[in-house]
Amino acid sequence: MRLLVTGGAGFIGSNFILYWLKNHPEDEIVNFDKLTYAGNLENLKSIEGTPNYKFVKGDIANADDVAAVILGIDIVVHFAAESHVDRSIHDSAPFIMTNVAGTQILLDAALKNNVKRFHHVSTDEVFGSLELNDPNKFNERTNYNPRSPYSASKAGSDHLVSAYYYTYNLPITITNCSNNFGPYQFPEKIIPLAITNLLEGKKVPIYGDGLYVRDWLYVEDHVKAIEAVLDKGKIGETYLIGGMTEDIPNIEVAKKIVRILGKSEGDIEFVKDRPGHDRRYAIDWSKIKNELGWKPLHDFDTWLKKTVEWYKENEDWWREVKSGEYQKYYEKQYNNK
Ligand SMILES: NC(=O)c1ccc[n+]([C@@H]2O[C@H](COP(=O)([O-])OP(=O)(O)OC[C@H]3O[C@@H](n4cnc5c(N)ncnc54)[C@H](O)[C@@H]3O)[C@@H](O)[C@H]2O)c1
Repeated sequence: MRLLVTGGAGFIGSNFILYWLKNHPEDEIVNFDKLTYAGNLENLKSIEGTPNYKFVKGDIANADDVAAVILGIDIVVHFAAESHVDRSIHDSAPFIMTNVAGTQILLDAALKNNVKRFHHVSTDEVFGSLELNDPNKFNERTNYNPRSPYSASKAGSDHLVSAYYYTYNLPITITNCSNNFGPYQFPEKIIPLAITNLLEGKKVPIYGDGLYVRDWLYVEDHVKAIEAVLDKGKIGETYLIGGMTEDIPNIEVAKKIVRILGKSEGDIEFVKDRPGHDRRYAIDWSKIKNELGWKPLHDFDTWLKKTVEWYKENEDWWREVKSGEYQKYYEKQYNNK
């Protein structure tokens, strides 16, 4: 099989490619990525030069770039996106261009080239926010209710993907996953931000009261869930993917990282809240478990420790990522405490 992986130089995309080539050495992968601030080919250094792996730089929102790269592709696995809520609040335009227009361009190209599968990687954030004491979780029947420009743009992309199934019979599947953590995550997201700030002797900024609850999933579990959907998923279906954790607030995540690194809770500081901040996400992943036999295998505490170790051992990776553009973004985001 020939796979086109969009956004393969990002956090989850690069973890997917490394896993896939190890476990499916008979397949070929074309990694198609614009290399925005979030794309980093260092993540894939270990497979550079491998005969069944090729990198092509390009933009999913550019129809010519996409037309050139999709020839001969069997399966599209679509990760490419602008992915950070805070950046979408500063400027939503790139989110619409990449996440909505880019997805539509890819869908058209996939249709024209008769791909066997178009798998769209999406987020639980499209469902909006749950109250802290709400017993309900998101499931495949939950109504969409996005509340940030990021989640609105991902919701738009989900609807387009689904529309191409109903309108044109494009063989699609969609997954909506909770918050991922693990190696190669860009340090603007809370877990790598907390780890690398503490390693640099800086404080960990926590929004508002810190009582924002996320469902955490180790990235390899996400990758394996996508593998299960590509292998056994039913065409036209959506599957929700979530982790083992039960309601850990962000402040507790920060305290766990502080403890792992032997730092003090005084190294955590509360900063001005994110506008429209979703209070809680929780996922009911029984459909993918019952129908495809997938479940998360990595518990939060053990794999958080391993993730901290990875950042300690890969200081060159994150120091390089945190230089340049990141500094400007960080000052803009956190200087207004
Ligand atoms: N990180 C999470 O916790 C999480 C959870 C659920 C779903 N998702 C979804 O998974 C996907 C990957 O997330 P991530 O955290 O790895 O993101 P990321 O920001 O780390 O990586 C995104 C990648 O897409 C590339 N890209 C951006 N715009 C592009 C364009 N126009 N053309 C081609 N490439 C482009 C970037 O260069 C980068 O390599 C996204 O679709 C995201 O919405 C992420």
